[in-house]
Amino acid sequence: MSTISRIFETLEYGPAPESASPALAWLAEKGNALGLFIGGEWVTPPDAGFFETANPATGKPLARVTQAGQGEVDAAVRAARLAQPGWAAAGGHARARYLYAIARQVQRNSRLFSVLESLDNGKPIRESRDIDVPLVARHFYHHAGWAQLMDAELPDSAPVGVVGQIIPWNFPLLMLAWKIAPALAMGNTVVLKPAEFTSLTALLFAEICAAAGLPAGVVNVITGDGRTGALLVEHPDVDKIAFTGSTDVGRLIRVATAGSGKKLSLELGGKSPFLVFEDADLDSVVEGVVDAIWFNQGQVCCAGSRILVQEGIADRLIAKLRARMETLRVGDPLDKAVDIGAIVAPVQLDRIRELVRQGQEEGATMWQPSWTCPAEGCFFPPTLFTNVSPSSTVAQVEIFGPVVVLMSFRTPEEAVELANNTRYGLAASVWSESVNLALDVAPKLAAGTVWINCTNVFDAAAGFGGYRESGFGREGGREGLREYVRPKWEAVAAGPDRSPAERTPGTEPKPDDGSTTQPHGDPLRTGVPGHAPAKPGEGDRHGDRHGLPPIDRTAKLYIGGKQVRPDSGYSTPVSGAAGTTLGDVGTGNRKDIRNAVEAAHKAAAWTRATGHARAQVLFYVAENLAARAAEMAGRLAAMSGDDAAAVREVDLSIERLYAAAAWADKWDGAVHHTPFRNVTLAMPEPLGVVGIVCPDAYPLLAFVSAVAPAVALGNRVVAVPSERAPLAATDFYQVLDTSDVPAGVVNIVTGPSAELAAVLAAHDDVDGIWHFGSLAGATDVERLSAGNMKRTWVGYGRARDWADPVQGGGREFLEHATQVKNIWVPYGE
Ligand code: NAI
Repeated sequence: MSTISRIFETLEYGPAPESASPALAWLAEKGNALGLFIGGEWVTPPDAGFFETANPATGKPLARVTQAGQGEVDAAVRAARLAQPGWAAAGGHARARYLYAIARQVQRNSRLFSVLESLDNGKPIRESRDIDVPLVARHFYHHAGWAQLMDAELPDSAPVGVVGQIIPWNFPLLMLAWKIAPALAMGNTVVLKPAEFTSLTALLFAEICAAAGLPAGVVNVITGDGRTGALLVEHPDVDKIAFTGSTDVGRLIRVATAGSGKKLSLELGGKSPFLVFEDADLDSVVEGVVDAIWFNQGQVCCAGSRILVQEGIADRLIAKLRARMETLRVGDPLDKAVDIGAIVAPVQLDRIRELVRQGQEEGATMWQPSWTCPAEGCFFPPTLFTNVSPSSTVAQVEIFGPVVVLMSFRTPEEAVELANNTRYGLAASVWSESVNLALDVAPKLAAGTVWINCTNVFDAAAGFGGYRESGFGREGGREGLREYVRPKWEAVAAGPDRSPAERTPGTEPKPDDGSTTQPHGDPLRTGVPGHAPAKPGEGDRHGDRHGLPPIDRTAKLYIGGKQVRPDSGYSTPVSGAAGTTLGDVGTGNRKDIRNAVEAAHKAAAWTRATGHARAQVLFYVAENLAARAAEMAGRLAAMSGDDAAAVREVDLSIERLYAAAAWADKWDGAVHHTPFRNVTLAMPEPLGVVGIVCPDAYPLLAFVSAVAPAVALGNRVVAVPSERAPLAATDFYQVLDTSDVPAGVVNIVTGPSAELAAVLAAHDDVDGIWHFGSLAGATDVERLSAGNMKRTWVGYGRARDWADPVQGGGREFLEHATQVKNIWVPYGE
């Protein structure tokens, strides 16, 4: 047969290799040895070690890269610190110009970037050229825009400062862009450490920063393995760590940064479900699976690695998948006709092999195409497991390779249950021709991203990040900016060398020491004109109105809508301003917290209730608090000795309840403009069960200011009131009782704050914890939260003026009460 007729017969692709020469020449220019980029200069420390970075498709070394040690990490952080004030002061417009210049440079060098990336990482050139690098440029353009808009759109936000960024090897340049672009846009400077397998494109990026004229020290790139990463994490002068990588290392970082005051965002592993309903278009589904698990060799944190298919179509889908797998091409990443490239490194290949072996050993059926992979280099064939039990290793562990498991379900409810049967929650995709079904299922999936009839699509305008043990924080979208700013008032309060005159009026820090320090003379008396604090006992149905001492009363705990005795059987006396004992409260313990968490879980209907319904309840709470205003103020005054402050505290608490009720049906989310045929719905969803540990200051106002927004947005709360002055909170449950708050939505456990906070932080069924107490308490909370990677919001003992509308009632509370889920809904035929 002639060559041409043979080609027509077999329809085989010939090799179409992209040339490696420009990238190899770039490396050769540097003598195949690369230094570090610190303070705008290339540094090669005389005593530093080197390690080799190799091409996984051939096993051949590409270059030697520097292992940065303590001295280099110090130098990089110092350079970033020096550069940060100037970078922030340059203003949004100047930063926008630099980010725009970087985007242009990325585009100008796009071929070099993609070839270098494919050489170093093993990913097919089609992916690095058509997906990774264009998305990198898109990220810088998009965030050039956010830099320009920062002052107008985030007027209450300040940069965090110096950010340490640690990224993985699966999308080396893309992860760099996801980290650096928003950080720079918001006025931060960065020290970035790429993964040891894939340092090269980060170093090329450093070169283009210099070419774009970026001021020295704004971007620093240091290379090295996990030890270098750990040094960066532990560096005392770093204000934030942004990490993408394994859940194990994420957990280590959570523990290592506990109590340090470093802001933290973690984008970790996943075991994302890929749900196929029986009305799905199966041919599209098959291509979807290719994109879900064979994109980037399956080394994708959000890879659709668990296919869940409705029973009736399972066999048909398996047959179609096998047929498609036969046609996939594995081989030289620089070949433009290759679908699957090389696994990043031998150690990763071994890991995949080992997990596949375990899958077979545990009884699942493994299937691979009939062809064989190239014998040299790190290659692994596309692999499908069927007959998989939901609890088996291959169904639970992130394999991070081209291996997918398939399980079946009968009903949509079962599908959701199976999908959520994982500790992760990064992404999910849903395949169905019924928009009703898909949009019904999407909100029920515990995942930060849900793709409907598509998968593994990303864009700078849409936030990406996890639920549960897939980490917290978002990258991309307006929601992603929050990771790189902090409230302006906090920056002022924390600033060691700002004089009070420079501070914004009304934001002076106040001691968080249990005293109510609100100035007198501003009797804002919402809804309760002219009320005066009642004297102790007055208006208290247990008190005596005829001069006799009040009946001794111990406030119980409030769990599941009931007043219950503490498990310990003990109570703790509460002293008033004059040193007299005002009453006793129950001494809660671990068991009480566990009961409260259980009660909160049972109140899940609250989360499903409409914002309107929740608003009605909160307005009613406000109304009933207003009706008891005098009594409440009396209680506060008895504890603090300050009548006027007590009245004001009650009034402000009523106002906060109104504000929370107001937000209940207005914290809307957004439709992101992603440049595909999609509407991308950014929906804020409640965390679930949230522990709230209140400060001693403002015992009623702080309690209400924190609990009300959390509940308004659909969370159920276990609150630990002020340890020193808990009676206002325990009185408050009588208000809750009369206001139609469903049982279990708000639970109140009094007692030793630090101990109760620690139990909440370590509890695996608690989804988030807010802590407004001491630095030591915050440290414990952050450390113990690492178990299930719950979302934390802690004050590190920093003074917060609860009477201030921003500090006590700002959007911060709403942001921390929710996490954004992005749902991608395609349109068009
Ligand atoms: P890894 O989590 O160890 O590495 C990610 C980054 O963290 C690298 O830059 C590494 O140098 C750095 N690092 C390692 N130890 C550190 C420490 N103690 N402190 C600070 N930084 C540290 O991931 P690895 O070992 O490369 O891959 C192992 C598994 O992790 C994979 O098989 C996969 O399951 C998962 N993984 C998940 C990723 C994701 O995007 N979700 C990315 C990479 C890996």
